[in-house]
Amino acid sequence: MAKRIIHIVGNRPQFIKLSLLHRSLSESAQQQIIHTGQHFSDNMSAVFFREFDIPVPDHQLQIHSLPHGEMIGHMLIELDRILALERPDAVIVYGDTNTTLAGSLAAKKRNIPLMHIEAGIRTGEEDMPEESNRYLSDRLADLNFACTYLGVENLLKEGMPAEKIHNTGDLMLDAALLFSQRAKENSTYVSTLVPAGQPFVLATIHRAENTDNPEALAAILRALHHIHSDIPVIFPLHPRTRQVIDAQGMELKLITTPPLGYLDMLTLVQAAGYVVTDSGGLSREAFFFQKPSVIVMRQMFWPEMSKHGPSLAASADTNAILTTFRALQGPTRSFDTRVFGDGHAAEKISRLILNYLHG
Ligand code: UD1
Repeated sequence: MAKRIIHIVGNRPQFIKLSLLHRSLSESAQQQIIHTGQHFSDNMSAVFFREFDIPVPDHQLQIHSLPHGEMIGHMLIELDRILALERPDAVIVYGDTNTTLAGSLAAKKRNIPLMHIEAGIRTGEEDMPEESNRYLSDRLADLNFACTYLGVENLLKEGMPAEKIHNTGDLMLDAALLFSQRAKENSTYVSTLVPAGQPFVLATIHRAENTDNPEALAAILRALHHIHSDIPVIFPLHPRTRQVIDAQGMELKLITTPPLGYLDMLTLVQAAGYVVTDSGGLSREAFFFQKPSVIVMRQMFWPEMSKHGPSLAASADTNAILTTFRALQGPTRSFDTRVFGDGHAAEKISRLILNYLHG
């Protein structure tokens, strides 16, 4: 009998990964989607469901804009109620957000097998909200799917049994390969922002460690303005970053846009010369398309990108970002994108989940 699987999502990057796995499982499982509502604006949520043709969620919660503990608590109550009602054979959670942790706890407390996508990332920074979300979700999961060998190594080091861990490659690479041509055909979008053929830098900043501290954000913006005086910087603005910039009355003279859909973002990253970001997703897309990048983080989520290519971390300090950016402008090392798999992560993950459930 077809197994019943529930995907729990709530954040922008999770919708992209969901779309690939949902498609790949569609012939062999009955699937439902729960959207927690953590991301709720049209340009942070609905646009992805349209672009990827994802079915309308079966359960749509509206839990967002709350302190982390409260957000996770509200999600847990609602998810527990739905899981008790639906009684699926497995729950799939993605990444390291508050939605991921709430989904993991809800599944575990109902003894439902839990599958964690993008497992095994560690920065060692316990004060980062994502670090505890990912650590706890990994521990609770029955199967952990890592995007690279390093995720597997991290989990083995922590004593996790090897049979719970699989290196499947990265669903974001599947998506980038699948949509890169369509995104290129969309390339007129770039000329609405900079003259055609003009080299530019694509930058995004949204992570709490960089936005919750206005001094850190001001230092990053100073570096971006400096770069912009040389090479134009296109800066799609996450709502959190917009809120802090507005509240602090910070100067912003970059080429800004609202949050963009996946295709526009993929178009921009393919056309960009360089990327400056604190996004785990965009930094990987830059790597896939061989764009030298500054990752504005104290510790990179994906140190494999420095080991297997010229992506460099810099702290939220104007000089550190500028020095790192200049280092990228000379000859750089080549990129070995195979570290993130072969673009068939969805098939591998689906097969492993189905084997587990039917085993
Ligand atoms: C969350 C994740 C982060 C992930 C990111 C992807 C956690 C702890 N963090 O961060 O790991 O990289 O998603 O984008 O879960 N907002 C809107 N409209 C929206 C969504 C958010 O205005 O559609 C506002 C919220 O009200 C809030 C702010 O943006 O004030 C930040 O949203 P939040 O849910 O806290 O997390 P992200 O910063 O997006």
